[in-house]
Amino acid sequence: MALFRIHVSVILLALLLLFFSSSSFGVCLANAAHDPGLISLKRSLAEIPSFDNIIVDNNYSFILAASRTHRQDPFHDFKYYTGGWNISNVHYWTSVSFTAAPLFIIAVVWFLVFGLVLFSISCYYCCCSRRKYSYSRSAYAFSLVFLILFTCAAIIGCIVLYNGQGKFHGSTSSTLDYVVGQADFVVDNLRNFSGILSEAKNISVEQIFIPADIGGKIDAVGAKLNSSASELETRAADNSAKIKDKLDTVRLVLIVVAAVMLLLTLLGFYFSVLGQQVLVYILVIIGWVLVAATFILCGVFLIFHNVVADSCVAMREWVVQPQAHTALDDILPCVDATTANESRYQSKEVTYQLSNVVNQVILNITNKNFPPNARPLYYNQSGPLVPILCNPYTKDLNNATCNAGEVVFSNASQVWKKYVCSTAIVSGSEICTSVGRITPKVYNQMISAVSVSGGLEYYGPFLVQLEDCTFVRDTFGMIDENNCPRLNQYSKWIYIGLAMVSSAVMLSLIFWIAYARERQHRANNKHFIALSAPSPLSEKTF
Ligand SMILES: *[C@@H]1O[C@H](CO)[C@@H](O)[C@H](O)[C@H]1NC(C)=O
Ligand SMILES: *[C@@H]1O[C@H](CO)[C@@H](O)[C@H](O)[C@H]1NC(C)=O
Ligand SMILES: *[C@@H]1O[C@H](CO)[C@@H](O)[C@H](O)[C@H]1NC(C)=O
Ligand SMILES: *[C@@H]1O[C@H](CO)[C@@H](O)[C@H](O)[C@H]1NC(C)=O
Ligand SMILES: *[C@@H]1O[C@H](CO)[C@@H](O)[C@H](O)[C@H]1NC(C)=O
Ligand SMILES: *[C@@H]1O[C@H](CO)[C@@H](O)[C@H](O)[C@H]1NC(C)=O
Ligand SMILES: *[C@@H]1O[C@H](CO)[C@@H](O)[C@H](O)[C@H]1NC(C)=O
Ligand SMILES: *[C@@H]1O[C@H](CO)[C@@H](O)[C@H](O)[C@H]1NC(C)=O
Ligand SMILES: *[C@@H]1O[C@H](CO)[C@@H](O)[C@H](O)[C@H]1NC(C)=O
Ligand SMILES: *[C@@H]1O[C@H](CO)[C@@H](O)[C@H](O)[C@H]1NC(C)=O
Repeated sequence: MALFRIHVSVILLALLLLFFSSSSFGVCLANAAHDPGLISLKRSLAEIPSFDNIIVDNNYSFILAASRTHRQDPFHDFKYYTGGWNISNVHYWTSVSFTAAPLFIIAVVWFLVFGLVLFSISCYYCCCSRRKYSYSRSAYAFSLVFLILFTCAAIIGCIVLYNGQGKFHGSTSSTLDYVVGQADFVVDNLRNFSGILSEAKNISVEQIFIPADIGGKIDAVGAKLNSSASELETRAADNSAKIKDKLDTVRLVLIVVAAVMLLLTLLGFYFSVLGQQVLVYILVIIGWVLVAATFILCGVFLIFHNVVADSCVAMREWVVQPQAHTALDDILPCVDATTANESRYQSKEVTYQLSNVVNQVILNITNKNFPPNARPLYYNQSGPLVPILCNPYTKDLNNATCNAGEVVFSNASQVWKKYVCSTAIVSGSEICTSVGRITPKVYNQMISAVSVSGGLEYYGPFLVQLEDCTFVRDTFGMIDENNCPRLNQYSKWIYIGLAMVSSAVMLSLIFWIAYARERQHRANNKHFIALSAPSPLSEKTF
């Protein structure tokens, strides 16, 4: 049962690793692509309707890791599976599990056959009287040599297994940390952007210019981004804790397997050499079960290794096939390039309009000198002219170049601070009492508008990258490049180590018995010779 649980937990681990990397991004992607996030942002800011219809321009399908996953499927008349990497397809799992069939068969055959052998040996001991032994020196030497050989092989296997699990744990942990780091990066960006939006919730530069309700809408979008970020954060934290737990369990199991097998090998060797038949038989019975269990564990790790390698190939191919429809796209709701382009376009438009509004305020109000009767436009503004904002886009949303004397988004708050005057309330409205062209209230509103535009400029491309999966593609590309080779290699070490340990211990078991018996025969034989042969002394005396 414990083994079954290990089996399940390893499969689960594989699944979790895969799903984690997809689902955690999936949250924000789903949010960005489907309802809250970007769409409502685009809607509320730019008032563009019907953004739901995502135009799917990816027209052809692509089978991920097709050649790697071309395996016989026992649940489909042993035909070759052709669906490629597709974790939602049960035939993928059955065909990949079939790769470990030889190991499972060995485990079962060993369990049955050796069980039978043990049974017949015990029958032989119980029922039959001991026959005469025919001691042969060569059989004795032969079994001793093989006993030493397989004991060494088992020790080497344990070392490979122990090293493999350490390195494997390191590489899975670093992969996990990378994925969690990417998730945190997304959370950070969403939080920061949401913060900018919420700071600017009542953005209205001199009420006249921006519709009053837009503040509320921006606020709603900010809250949604915030909740997406929170969900992603909790999911990432939960999943990574769970996976870490699973990894620690796997590590513990492997260490225990390596230690127990090593101990078994050494004890078996020792007792066998000492000729302690009873202890050898006790160890043989323990070893009989452990060898079968280790073969099964080895099969499980072979499956795991294959799934990891398949996933790595699938990720690599998915990264370079952005147009195709693949099994990964069923998990990751990537919006197509057209839609992503449109969102980028809209965020540019919002940036353009907000900057434009701010500049209109500067040009038409703060930088003009009005007669005192021209209230509310007149508030005693005086002094040097306020520099206007550098609008990064032209009216048709191409890149614009800044003119000399214009301020950029990041500098605006510092630069404009110099033009703020101190105010007093005169007959119900604010009036500058010192030199300056901006009242603190107007300053705050202008800064709000600038921080939204600046935030859009700064975080917009990132949000679009989330939306069209560029970010996930980059992440997968990095995992494929940095983590996959080691994951592949060390999961291979583990199953090779397990295979070495189990087969070496299996053969050692046989030679424990053989050697212990040969030793017994030799001892009996000597005894027999000593008893039956006439005493040399008596011969001499004769
Ligand atoms: C897919 O693309 C092919 C040409 O590459 C075209 O003939 C076909 O109509 C397209 N199918 C759809 C559903 O757009
Ligand atoms: C988010 O904002 C904090 C401080 O406001 C900053 O330290 C951090 O670098 C920002 N994160 C990103 C991804 O821009
Ligand atoms: C985001 O939500 C958390 C609670 O979930 C709240 O404490 C925080 O103030 C919110 N931040 C923004 C920018 O809305
Ligand atoms: C924003 O609106 C809140 C109430 O909704 C108000 O208390 C706050 O003073 C406003 N901030 C600015 C800068 O107008
Ligand atoms: C993956 O498998 C599922 C279940 O069999 C199937 O519905 C889906 O179409 C497959 N995806 C691809 C891309 O083949
Ligand atoms: C993005 O969309 C705009 C119009 O919405 C279009 O002019 C431009 O060519 C598109 N760019 C790409 C790369 O598709
Ligand atoms: C600001 O002034 C320009 C001309 O100087 C005018 O075209 C524009 O409509 C004015 N903006 C507003 C919001 O009044
Ligand atoms: C505009 O500038 C950005 C970088 O600031 C660049 O990536 C983009 O290609 C430019 N677009 C055009 C149309 O030149
Ligand atoms: C923005 O401010 C920094 C220093 O505060 C200055 O070096 C830089 O030239 C300014 N950029 C522009 C475009 O004014
Ligand atoms: C208007 O501003 C000037 C400084 O530029 C100041 O001397 C004057 O007192 C202000 N007028 C009122 C009515 O506050």
